[in-house]
Amino acid sequence: MADKPTLTTSAGNPIADNQNSLTAGERGPILMQDYQLLEKLAHQNRERIPERVVHAKGWGAHGTFTVTNDITKYTKAAIFSEVGKQTEMLSRFSTVAGESGAADAERDVRGFSMKFYTEEGNWDMVGNNTPVFFIRDPYKFPDFIHTQKRHPKTNLRSNTAQWDYWSQSPEALHQVMILMSDRGIPRGPQFMNGYGSHTYSFINADDERFWVKLHFKTQQGHDFFTNEESREEIGRTRETFQEALYGAIEDGNFPKWTLKIQVMPEEDAVKTPYNPFDLTKVWPHGDYPLIEVGEVELNRNAENYFQEIENAAYSPSNIVPGIGFSPDKVLQSRIFSYADAHRYRLGTHYEALPVNAPKCPVHHYHKDGAMRFFQNMPNPDAYYEPNSFGGPVEDPSRAEPPLKISGDADRYNHREGNDDYGQPRALYDLFDDDQKARLHASFAGSMAGVPSEIIERALGHLAQISPALADGIRGELDN
Ligand code: HEM
Repeated sequence: MADKPTLTTSAGNPIADNQNSLTAGERGPILMQDYQLLEKLAHQNRERIPERVVHAKGWGAHGTFTVTNDITKYTKAAIFSEVGKQTEMLSRFSTVAGESGAADAERDVRGFSMKFYTEEGNWDMVGNNTPVFFIRDPYKFPDFIHTQKRHPKTNLRSNTAQWDYWSQSPEALHQVMILMSDRGIPRGPQFMNGYGSHTYSFINADDERFWVKLHFKTQQGHDFFTNEESREEIGRTRETFQEALYGAIEDGNFPKWTLKIQVMPEEDAVKTPYNPFDLTKVWPHGDYPLIEVGEVELNRNAENYFQEIENAAYSPSNIVPGIGFSPDKVLQSRIFSYADAHRYRLGTHYEALPVNAPKCPVHHYHKDGAMRFFQNMPNPDAYYEPNSFGGPVEDPSRAEPPLKISGDADRYNHREGNDDYGQPRALYDLFDDDQKARLHASFAGSMAGVPSEIIERALGHLAQISPALADGIRGELDN
């Protein structure tokens, strides 16, 4: 016993008995002064925090990013400053719709988050395993997510709500095609690509801006479950992704991704036939070829899942000098949503939690609130600004160059004048016959129980992508 530490209360007071409650006589009631028991029960009541409103079920690990190619002509970001440079990072992958106890092997988009602890602050890359998304205007995000979550009365997921929404939102169909394809049910985080999805800015040392798309290409190869295999897998375990990722890292079989970028000169943004800031579109690789940047390797499991993965707070607002936003409306709205969600889910100073804390000095004047673990830097008199006590000041040299694109403020109709069918058609044409057959079956499966007028409205859009697609789905529905 002597080599074991003594059990204490959270205030460090030694505990004499962790087995028997303190009672007035052997058969008498418990005494209020059994504080250790009160603390133990009170803590159990507080073991849960709100789960994420979306992307609640997740899996993650620590790792390293290594630069393999010089891209300093596009960005001055310190993380990319020289070939061979390494930066610590933290990943979190997730499903979108399921709650925190949901089965992993479900058909759903997967979140793909990476927090890079750079010397100029954290850069959070909060992407998905798909290069596009269901919406191009943030007004639609809560509506879309409501169709993915439970019906208010039945408390069940609703195919009808999902297809009612999609059949009136043709901009979603590119993403729906990917979701219903083989990539819709990966076998584990390591068997899928990641994408920044949005267009971001890179800014170089000469203050030139480039538009970029980020692609994380799996080095493990794509591997997926068919619908039949996923049903069997979910019968075996709900924890497919946790087992796959955790097990691979424990075995020393470290998952890797190659980071590549597409780069568009700033002026091209007004010339492309499609809006390069439209999140439902990809950029043709022929016009903007992939350029290698570096490698992500996940090589360390969390010691405490809650502390390191559940507490992880990713936000597209976390950018560093040399990396910036773009006019993508959905990206712009995400700059608000995530930090707001974290203040609610984790608390005011959530960035001070060890897993979120930058590995560089932090100087700000935010004052009190939950998790105020840190002192005013560099001295306690400097707690407002301007001050005469050596407190931190802004650095105008860090200003971004002005955006060359701007226009009149208005509510521009995001559904007018867009081709919602061309890129999904190009994707459909890439699939071989077996892939198409599985795609048709997945579409049809997702329409089970949906009223026929909604199905017909959806098939009308899908026929504009390709008559063969609509006919293939119809064939499966008739089976
Ligand atoms: C208007 C559009 C969107 C809004 C308002 C939104 C909002 C949110 C919110 C509130 C969370 C929960 C954050 C938390 O509690 O930790 C979340 C999580 C997440 N979202 Fe979005 N989202 C949007 C679009 C997107 C898009 C386009 C992507 C990918 C390209 C994406 C990827 C993710 C990921 C990966 C997570 C999980 C982050 C983690 O691992 O903790 N979201 N989103």
